[in-house]
Amino acid sequence: MKKLSIVSIFLMAVLCFSSCGKSFRDGAKEKGFNSGIALAAGSFLDPNVAKIVKENSYIVVSENSMKWQNLRPNKTFWNWNDVDQLIKFADENGMIVKWHTLFWHQQNSNFISSNWTREEALAAMDEHIETIMTRYKGKIKEYDVVNEMFEEDGSFRQNVWYKTIGPDYIEHALIKAREVDPDAKLYLNEYNNEEKGNRKADAMFNFVKDLKDRGVPIDGVGMQLHLDTSYNYSEEAVRRNIQRYAEIGIDISFSEVDIRVPMDSVEAHQALQTERYLSLYKLAAENSNVKSVITWGWTDKGSWIPATFPGKGSALMYDAQGKPKPVYNEVKKFLCK
Ligand code: XIL
Repeated sequence: MKKLSIVSIFLMAVLCFSSCGKSFRDGAKEKGFNSGIALAAGSFLDPNVAKIVKENSYIVVSENSMKWQNLRPNKTFWNWNDVDQLIKFADENGMIVKWHTLFWHQQNSNFISSNWTREEALAAMDEHIETIMTRYKGKIKEYDVVNEMFEEDGSFRQNVWYKTIGPDYIEHALIKAREVDPDAKLYLNEYNNEEKGNRKADAMFNFVKDLKDRGVPIDGVGMQLHLDTSYNYSEEAVRRNIQRYAEIGIDISFSEVDIRVPMDSVEAHQALQTERYLSLYKLAAENSNVKSVITWGWTDKGSWIPATFPGKGSALMYDAQGKPKPVYNEVKKFLCK
């Protein structure tokens, strides 16, 4: 009897510490990058969620609270509460906070107008940057300054800022942001921009290189990486893209990672999903200019995927019950090595 219980205690210990003795986030840190999670407003106030976030993140970002629609529903009302709470939580737990996003074509406030003159739009942009970046100087360490500025064919997206100001709205925002908080890292964030040879990815690289050549302040490029196992993925093309950014001194963030699968064949897609998650974490470990890997949420329950891509889901590494899936353990095993 006694022997049996010693054996079972030993087995339990082996199970608990089977991957290794360090946390997911420390494993990533030792490989040279920060792992992180995008968080729904106030979600981290739940102690069970806080525990998961502390285990996995050295960088956090708001999933929605920093967007105009939520932060600033009208011109003079600023809803700082969600972001302040996130910063407090991050400070208490040794995490850095990233801003997503200063400018975008979605989730804007109604008062933003495509009838603004160039001067009016520039003034609105400046006011937004000044108010946020002054308030959070030293507290928000990096910013997505502009999100999703390209179309798939590599042309500029005709968002309200492009229409009112013109293509130089991006450099205007970057210059202003640097002026207000010179220590903050400034990123441009995109999707489908990860593979060298893709039209959008190449257009973005050429654009960023041109900014660098002309001395416009920019530190990094975000690759959202909302992947889908039904589409092609070339690790080599992503690697070559990361490397060409390294050559021009640009950092990379894997900024919104999730890998969706068809809900009618989740199991059949599991191996491929695991392979791609591993590929991303390996690329981050391999390339010193990749500074962070952030997943867009942590549990399948809260994920934006099912509502946005009908029939797709199971895109994160924790299931809908908040339990780590086999893919999580595989990635953790890699981070522990
Ligand atoms: C998504 C959020 O996850 C959803 O909750 C919201 O309804 C819409 O926006 N690319 C981005 C993110 O840059 O801001 C988006 O987040 C997902 C796609």
